[in-house]
Amino acid sequence: MAACSYKGTMLDVSQAIAAPAHDTVGPISRHDYRPPAWLVPDTRLVFALDAAATRVTATLSVTRNGEHGEPLRLHGAGQEPLAVRVDGVAVNDWRIEGEQLVVPLTGATHSVETEVVIAPERNTQLMGLYASGGNLCTQCEAEGFRRITYFPDRPDVLSRYRVRLEADKVRYPVLLANGDPVDAGDMPGESGGRHWAEWDDPFPKPSYLFALVAGDLAVNRGTFTTASGRTVALGIWVRATDIEKTHHALHALKLSMAWDERVYGREYDLDVFNVVAVDDFNFGAMENKGLNIFNSRYILADPDTATDYDYDGIAAVVAHEYFHNWSGNRITCRDWFQLSLKEGFTVYRDQGFSADQGSAAVKRIEDVRGLRAAQFPEDAGPLAHPVRPESYLEISNFYTATIYNKGAELIRMIATILGPQGFRAGTDLYFDRFDGTAATCEDFVACMEDASGRDLAQFRLWYSQAGTPRVAASLAHEAGEGRATLRLAQHVPGTPGQPDKQPMVLPLKIKLFGGETGRALGEEQLVLLDQAASTIVFDGITERPVLSINRGFSAPVIIESDRSAAELGFLSAHDDDPFARYEAMQQLMLDTLVAAVIEGDGDHAAVVTAVANTLADRALDPAFVAEAVLLPSESFVGDQLALVDPDAIHRAREALRRDLGMRLADQWRDAYEQAPTGPYVYSPAAKGHRRLRSVALSYIAASGAADAATIAFRQFEAADNMTDRQGALNTLANGYADEREAALDIFYNRYAGNGLVIDKWFQTQALSSRDDTGRLVAELARHPDFTLANPNRARSLIGAYGANQRAFNAADGSGYRFLADQLIALDKLNPQTAAKLLPPLGRWRRFDEKRSALMRAELQRIVATPGLSRDLFEQASKSLA
Ligand code: PHE
Ligand code: ZN
Repeated sequence: MAACSYKGTMLDVSQAIAAPAHDTVGPISRHDYRPPAWLVPDTRLVFALDAAATRVTATLSVTRNGEHGEPLRLHGAGQEPLAVRVDGVAVNDWRIEGEQLVVPLTGATHSVETEVVIAPERNTQLMGLYASGGNLCTQCEAEGFRRITYFPDRPDVLSRYRVRLEADKVRYPVLLANGDPVDAGDMPGESGGRHWAEWDDPFPKPSYLFALVAGDLAVNRGTFTTASGRTVALGIWVRATDIEKTHHALHALKLSMAWDERVYGREYDLDVFNVVAVDDFNFGAMENKGLNIFNSRYILADPDTATDYDYDGIAAVVAHEYFHNWSGNRITCRDWFQLSLKEGFTVYRDQGFSADQGSAAVKRIEDVRGLRAAQFPEDAGPLAHPVRPESYLEISNFYTATIYNKGAELIRMIATILGPQGFRAGTDLYFDRFDGTAATCEDFVACMEDASGRDLAQFRLWYSQAGTPRVAASLAHEAGEGRATLRLAQHVPGTPGQPDKQPMVLPLKIKLFGGETGRALGEEQLVLLDQAASTIVFDGITERPVLSINRGFSAPVIIESDRSAAELGFLSAHDDDPFARYEAMQQLMLDTLVAAVIEGDGDHAAVVTAVANTLADRALDPAFVAEAVLLPSESFVGDQLALVDPDAIHRAREALRRDLGMRLADQWRDAYEQAPTGPYVYSPAAKGHRRLRSVALSYIAASGAADAATIAFRQFEAADNMTDRQGALNTLANGYADEREAALDIFYNRYAGNGLVIDKWFQTQALSSRDDTGRLVAELARHPDFTLANPNRARSLIGAYGANQRAFNAADGSGYRFLADQLIALDKLNPQTAAKLLPPLGRWRRFDEKRSALMRAELQRIVATPGLSRDLFEQASKSLA
């Protein structure tokens, strides 16, 4: 494109930007990686901030990277250069090529300056600089910085940033950016009412870690003294009325800082660490260097508005973002195909942190439940991709459960294989060797090998092969020989673009128990299954053995064992690994439910006995009991079946719930009444009691007991905390009692104006198991409080509905049509959030012909929508393929 045709003709530029994005950029491939032609050692940014029009002046010191004649290529999106200066002199030999500003340069080093004007208040995508609740903030990962200024917006270009912010002093009294504060003051003379602040970040960083915040914010301050004696000023910044809800986050931050020193030897490195909460945010939070920006749902908590689950989530996300300072910021990613390098590792780190705060067993159960709810279906569907993907259209679509949660499982397996000392030696080496650089997954694995002496060649398949491995396990016993023989066979199913797979390395923790005595028959063993099939012989086994396998969920695989209901029931009562106990119970429940779906009627006896035993076992942690007695979700049952019949699954599960509720009525009442209540405290023990109490309540309701709604409503009214209140509300929302409407109204009125709690009000209704949930959701979408402009609100209704298997998959296709309508509307405002909500439509292969055709029709309608974003186009078209 000729340079001159664009200059000064604003119209042309904006038309080029408005053209359907998915036509303008093809797929990006991992193998096309080339090092940057130009480096940017220093960056100076000046922001004249204003919600309607912010002027950004960027001065980049650039150096030619090697011998070549390439021009400088800067990314930019949704803007045009008002001026381009090279070494202080205005030039006009630049040109625009798609999303790039191309500037020919002759020397080895230059100073390149650009000026743009952007409009934060019109930014509904929430990428780049945008307005939220009257404040201004940024989100740059993955490719948002190009919406702020022209820059080589790729993670392997590390630059030192110095930033000057200028803004109206009344509207934006607080001005924050990355790094340490340098100076601040009032603007002189004519620009009256404005002030400025300068920030300097001494650590070279990629553009995706840039951040600024300008706003009217209050701060909860704290300090942390690092192991080497550096005092760090901590600040949690929120709107003034929320300040009392920041204590938990601040506390979690201090715990995280100490934990990373103790467990990984990582200290914080700047004088300040700031965290800002914003209401409009596409993800959970963002690890910008020294200035984390959070979705307010992961900061704000008090007992009246946040559940225990919210408290746990806040601590986990605060830790996660803090841990990124080393695993992400000090060492970043060479390119976005390496995303799991920072995300998988950091999730593994935050899981370890959370496990250390309370019950490690319950934490593991929750994490595996989450993996099975989000990642297993992804790995089994049209959007399956390896932990290190090969190509993408839109990188935002790859912030997935596979990159994050399966990625964390990969790190966990490495830690299991290397053992604690080998793993710590590996992470020490990694942090040392790659500090200050942009690294790859391969670099990480090589450090693990170098530090431990283990060969991880075959393990690398975990990074390149998608799909959840399946392991068939069967144990034979020859009593006369005193021998048990375990036969294992693995199979990795084909996934899009990967029809044939190699056998992987599967670390399986295994133990045998005596079926008669219940005692352990030997120690736990770590078996590395690295062949398609393998046989393991156990000698000296005289008693009939029962197999405990994949203990602690040591490998993220599906175990297909031929263990009987009796054996699973036995393990659920006797296994000494709490995860394995939980797992045996889940398998028993799944087998029972699958049989009931297929045969139309189920034998519940084994499940009832196992649940009764678990409830009766006084030695167990109530938090564990609450997890163990929960039935697998309807969608998880669906995932076990080639053909999902959502109504049959619902009926089978409700029947089992009812049976459990009735046959163990006294035990549920006991569990409910004996759980100590007392004034609210957030502690592992108190959390466990609350959890068990709400689970017991749900079974009392499932039994059909006449007083269930009365009990639930009493709990709802008496509650001094959100956990009990919402636990009761969930139970009422699933039912048809008069108390339901009353509780929903009381809840709504009590929390009117509190966005995070109103999200719960929407979500609880969208997750309801009632027969008319589809109709209620459609009504709620017209509620005055519903808006697509706020991602939390959109997710609370549309996301929850998509997760409600039976309601969403209504036979008439109303759920599909509703979702497609909402996504098409949302795509115009916020393509990232729209694309994230699409996957439920991609499950069409698993449903009957009628539903499948209805789902495909909606996907086709989405794909055919004019002006569709690259984000939604990629997800919808891949889901059709
Ligand atoms: N990097 C963030 C995290 O995992 C997630 C994120 C991605 C946030 C993209 C915003 C945008 O901590
Ligand atoms: Zn992260």
